[in-house]
Amino acid sequence: MSAVLRPVPQIAPMTERDLDAVLALEKKIYPYPWTAGNFRDSLRAGYHCRVVFDAEELIGYAVLMLGASEAHLLNLSVAGHAQGRGHGRALLSHLIGVARERGAHVFFLEVRPSNEAGRRLYAGYGFSQMGVRRGYYPADGKREDALVFALDL
Ligand SMILES: CC(C)(COP(=O)(O)OP(=O)(O)OC[C@H]1O[C@@H](n2cnc3c(N)ncnc32)[C@H](O)[C@@H]1OP(=O)(O)O)[C@@H](O)C(=O)NCCC(=O)NCCS
Repeated sequence: MSAVLRPVPQIAPMTERDLDAVLALEKKIYPYPWTAGNFRDSLRAGYHCRVVFDAEELIGYAVLMLGASEAHLLNLSVAGHAQGRGHGRALLSHLIGVARERGAHVFFLEVRPSNEAGRRLYAGYGFSQMGVRRGYYPADGKREDALVFALDL
């Protein structure tokens, strides 16, 4: 019997070279995607920007802002065809580990009320809802609230 060995997906620092692939995914995933400028600014600001590669293919990415004692998740995304295979959880777990190492005491993020997968991912990790930002997200000519989730580290 023979087995085909696939490399384990790798989490790596995002660089400017990744931006075309990141932007292509971002546009597929979100109706109101981040711009190239948003990602460039995040890289230049020194935010913790990571990508996930499965072999040669970029299948996910995340952006985490780290302050003195707080971490704030700004973006967490997995390509549609790669969702539901543990990559989102692995990325979130990585980011929480980084936040702890850097001495953050609390990890914040926003999620749309309509985002069932995101809400379940965060709730399953122990995040709890601590507030609502009214009209935070664009949505079909209107605005959608954001649920603010937090995890004590
Ligand atoms: C949310 C997202 C990052 C999750 O990543 P993923 O790789 O698909 O998720 P995982 O396979 O790691 O699953 C982790 C948990 O998320 C939840 N989840 C994932 N997909 C789900 C779905 N389709 N429906 C409901 N819950 C889901 C489950 O709780 C799951 O845990 P379980 O497998 O024990 O049930 C991904 O779906 C995504 O990129 N969505 C579009 C962008 C987005 O919404 N980003 C978050 C913005 S706040």
